[in-house]
Amino acid sequence: MALSVKHLLGIRELSLDDIHTIFQAADRFKEVLQQPIKKVPALRDTTIANIFFENSTRTRISFELAQKRLSADVVNFSASGSSVSKGETLIDTVHNILAMKVDMVVMRHSSSGAPWFLARHTDAAIINAGDGTNEHPTQALLDAFSMREKLGDLKGRRVAIIGDIMHSRVALSNIYCLGKLGAELMVCGPPTLIPKGIEEMGVRVEYDVRKALQWCEVANVLRIQLERQNKPLFSTLREYALYYGINRDMMQSLEQEVIIMHPGPINRGVELASDVADSSSSIILDQVQNGVAIRMAVVYLLSGTTQA
Ligand code: CP
Repeated sequence: MALSVKHLLGIRELSLDDIHTIFQAADRFKEVLQQPIKKVPALRDTTIANIFFENSTRTRISFELAQKRLSADVVNFSASGSSVSKGETLIDTVHNILAMKVDMVVMRHSSSGAPWFLARHTDAAIINAGDGTNEHPTQALLDAFSMREKLGDLKGRRVAIIGDIMHSRVALSNIYCLGKLGAELMVCGPPTLIPKGIEEMGVRVEYDVRKALQWCEVANVLRIQLERQNKPLFSTLREYALYYGINRDMMQSLEQEVIIMHPGPINRGVELASDVADSSSSIILDQVQNGVAIRMAVVYLLSGTTQA
C-alpha cells in the first residue's frame, strides 16, 4: 500500500485511490486499537515532530497518540513558550528541529499555505494539521471515514455542511474529500459566511437551516470562527443561535434521521444545543475515536515503511 504523494498537504492533491488506501489502512488500525495491546512496532526507527503554531486539543493529542501507537519517537513543539516569541522564523524553527534528525513533521499554522512552504524547503514528510482558512486534511478524512462507517459507500449520500463556511478549513477539505467520494453536498449558513461562487465547486447553497436539515442525511455542523473575522459578519452570537442553532425541536420535526457531526470545539448553545450534541443522532465522539486510526494510517503510509 502506498500513496501517490510524499506529503499530506491537502485533500485537493489526493487521488480517490489515495483516500481508499488511507481508509483501508485505518480499518486495520481501528482493529489494532480494539485489542488489549493497542500498539504495533511499525515506526520504531522513525522520529516525528508535532509543531503547533496555533491552539489545538483534538488534533494534537490524536496525532501524538497515533504516533505512539505506531511506536514512533515523538517530540512536541508549541509556539507559545518557544523562541518564536524572540523573532525566530518558521523556516529557522523547522530547520533546527530537523537538524535533530526528525523524519516527519506534523504542522498546524495560522497562515494558509505554510505547510506547502515547508515542504519546498525540507526533505522530511510534512503533514498539514490545519493551515489558516485553507485545509485540514486529516479532519476531512476522519469525517468521511465516520460517515462511511454509518452509511457505507458515500456515493449519492446527501451531506450538509452548516455554519461558518467562509473561515473553515474543515469545510473546504470536506468539500474536496466528499466530492471525490461522490457525495451530494450542500453548504448552509448566513449569506455573509458563505464564500461567493462556492457553487462552482459542485455544492448547493441554502440559507435556511431547517431546509438544509430536511434535505440531508448527515449534517456536519461548524462553529463560528470569531478569531478569523476581522469585522463582524453577523449581529450577535445570540441572533446566530436563534436563526442557525440546531436544537432538539428542529431535529424532532424532521421526517428522516439526520446524523449530527461536529469537528470540535463545540460552542454549546450557539451552533448546536447540548441535547442535540449529546443525543443518539450525534457521532461526534466516534469522529474523535476514528481520528486516531486515520492519523495512524496517514503517518504509517507517509513513513514509507512496509512493516505494520
Ligand atoms: N477539530 C480540530 O481541529 O480540533 P482542535 O482545534 O482541538 O485540534
